[in-house]
Amino acid sequence: MKKVLVTGGAGFIGSHTAVELENASYTPVIIDNFSNSDRSVIDRLGEIMNTTPTLIEGDCSDETLLHRVFEEHGPFDGVIHFAAYKAVGESVRNPLKYYKNNLRSTEVLMQCMIEHGCKNLVFSSSCTVYGQPDALPVTETTPFQPANSPYGYTKQVCERMINEVVAANEGQFSSILLRYFNPIGAHPSGLIGELPLGRPENLIPYITQTAAGWRDELVVFGDDYDTADGTCVRDFIHVVDLAKAHVAALTYMESHDLTTEAVNLGTGDGVTVKQVIDTFEEATGVKFNWRMGDRRPGDVEKIYASSAKANDMLNWKTEKSLKDALVDAWNWQQKLPKP
Ligand code: UD1
Repeated sequence: MKKVLVTGGAGFIGSHTAVELENASYTPVIIDNFSNSDRSVIDRLGEIMNTTPTLIEGDCSDETLLHRVFEEHGPFDGVIHFAAYKAVGESVRNPLKYYKNNLRSTEVLMQCMIEHGCKNLVFSSSCTVYGQPDALPVTETTPFQPANSPYGYTKQVCERMINEVVAANEGQFSSILLRYFNPIGAHPSGLIGELPLGRPENLIPYITQTAAGWRDELVVFGDDYDTADGTCVRDFIHVVDLAKAHVAALTYMESHDLTTEAVNLGTGDGVTVKQVIDTFEEATGVKFNWRMGDRRPGDVEKIYASSAKANDMLNWKTEKSLKDALVDAWNWQQKLPKP
């Protein structure tokens, strides 16, 4: 079995990817410091996968620890690097936290990979690198606009750092940069899902927590955008589809002499925030309190992916609908103990 190091493997996307790696006969080895995830995820992964994955508890920016991981648990056939902070608003309030963690962990990880002869890196990037693009759908060649937040800037810098390291280590190091649009949903088992600590910043956990009575109401941030109903447009992708794309990326790298490629991961469909609310209510039969409010500073008006490159290059397609994702997110929410 091929071994893959999954940094941030206890997180939302990392945990779903660990499951899909195992389904595709890879052995995931997880490193996570649980700074934004819960320890119970590892046991839950054990239930889904029938075997509890190897866990190293610690920080990816700890060089000594990471070298030890490569020595004691390697060799790895590839690395998928999720470990990073990801809240836009928090990054504006505390930029140094983001620069320190997101940049340093990527730097240390690449150094260790090169020293231990591990060639294939799949990097967890984001559509945030595009800022508000001039033309839609966004393709991988759409130029970057200035980042809207320190979080977005760390993704731009990490991508650049990786491209430079690939160029400087020709034939020895390669990378696929996966630019996620809006990952949502949960595993159909209801055992793993999105577990934001405290008040959610993202739309779907806010909807499910309001529907579950944990929050009084959802405020829709802005109804005066230049879109079909005035609310923002996003491209919401089921986390299980997204997880499968990571496996497709690794498999692609194993059979191609590549250097570095960026690939968008979205459905290709732009959906408004109001359409998400309507679909949730229709799919689950649950009505919840929501109202229109002011715009949220820093929000992009509309963004959705061209998924042509992912379809062609990775031979990957989304299989699940927005409705599937909302039903799975609601199923997951209903199993959570009220804090
Ligand atoms: C942003 C980034 C994404 C990043 C994510 C991490 C962009 C285009 N996207 O996603 O790359 O991974 O943050 O957090 O920069 N909304 C409400 N009410 C709420 C919460 C959200 O109306 O209570 C609206 C937002 O205004 C937005 C949409 O729902 O229009 C989605 O918001 P959210 O889930 O926070 O994700 P993005 O901001 O799109």
